[in-house]
Amino acid sequence: MPVAGKRTTLQEYVASKWENKGQNLGLGAVIMAIADGSRKVQEQVQQASLADVLGTTEETNIQGEIVQRLDEASSNIFVEMLSQSGHVAAIGCEEIENPVIVEGNVADGFIVLMDPLDGSSNIDVAVSIGSIFGIWQKSPGETVNDASLLRKGNEQIAAAYVVYGSSTVLVLATKDNVCGFTLDVSTGSYAVTHPNITIPADCPYYSTNEGNSKVLDEPTKKAIGLLRDKYSQRYVGSLVADFHRNLLKGGIFAYPADINRKSGRLRLMYEANPLGFVAEQAGGAASTGYERILDITPTELHQRTPLILGNKDVVESTVSVISGS
Ligand code: AHG
Ligand code: MN
Ligand code: MN
Repeated sequence: MPVAGKRTTLQEYVASKWENKGQNLGLGAVIMAIADGSRKVQEQVQQASLADVLGTTEETNIQGEIVQRLDEASSNIFVEMLSQSGHVAAIGCEEIENPVIVEGNVADGFIVLMDPLDGSSNIDVAVSIGSIFGIWQKSPGETVNDASLLRKGNEQIAAAYVVYGSSTVLVLATKDNVCGFTLDVSTGSYAVTHPNITIPADCPYYSTNEGNSKVLDEPTKKAIGLLRDKYSQRYVGSLVADFHRNLLKGGIFAYPADINRKSGRLRLMYEANPLGFVAEQAGGAASTGYERILDITPTELHQRTPLILGNKDVVESTVSVISGS
């Protein structure tokens, strides 16, 4: 157990949360694999040009986007750490077209969907970026295949994200709470710094790409206008950074459908579902503008979705204007 006065480490938190309870011990190993991988990514993020990890690979990923070298490096790091955890049966990743089915049919296999590096357009300009993870548990005895990854967001047993910002913070949401840990770079270990996160009742910020206003349909244009009239604009261009600020300070993030992108821009399985899970566990909400994100039945690994995410009352009022409900 942690020593009084000393901060609880992530390792201690994970052990005390699931030790002697038999279930989900493997989940602790998955969380530690994410933490260990994020430390490696953080080192590369901090070294950046010095470690020659910036710029593009000249390749285009399944999203049709130019792959940043750190996208690829982060993907490789987390696939390796998760595969080696001994408790992950399959991985879905933004940078990999098809699911990674991990060798060996692990008994309590977890299924991890991830955005290994979120905010790629900010990598080369030293602006906050992040990593996002949704965690599901396979059914006992299930032999996982590609379809095993297409699970509803409301079946997640945990979700986590890391924001590589002025500090490196890992936020872990489970069915009973949301907890934040800050990386002590001198020891390489995460310590509890934000126990029991809940979204504040007040909502000071709205986060949206105002450059898209001209391509919104009328109800959505009206909904964004109401946010603009009421709140201060904060938009980093890295979903994790915008969401983390809104989670701690209050705020709403909106990347709605537009006339060019009727399915939205962000990805359901490894952006909207995990952050929607975190938001709901912290007392917030996540919607497409028409339905709850976590209720969506996925059909494709990389499918996109509109995303309205943050303070529950503000999400609900925004959704009512967008959908006319
Ligand atoms: P990714 O780098 O994983 O592709 O995600 C980028 C996403 C998200 O982080 C951010 O909110 C959004 O792209 C910004 O989109 P715009 O540049 O269109 O505003
Ligand atoms: Mn992303
Ligand atoms: Mn990404």
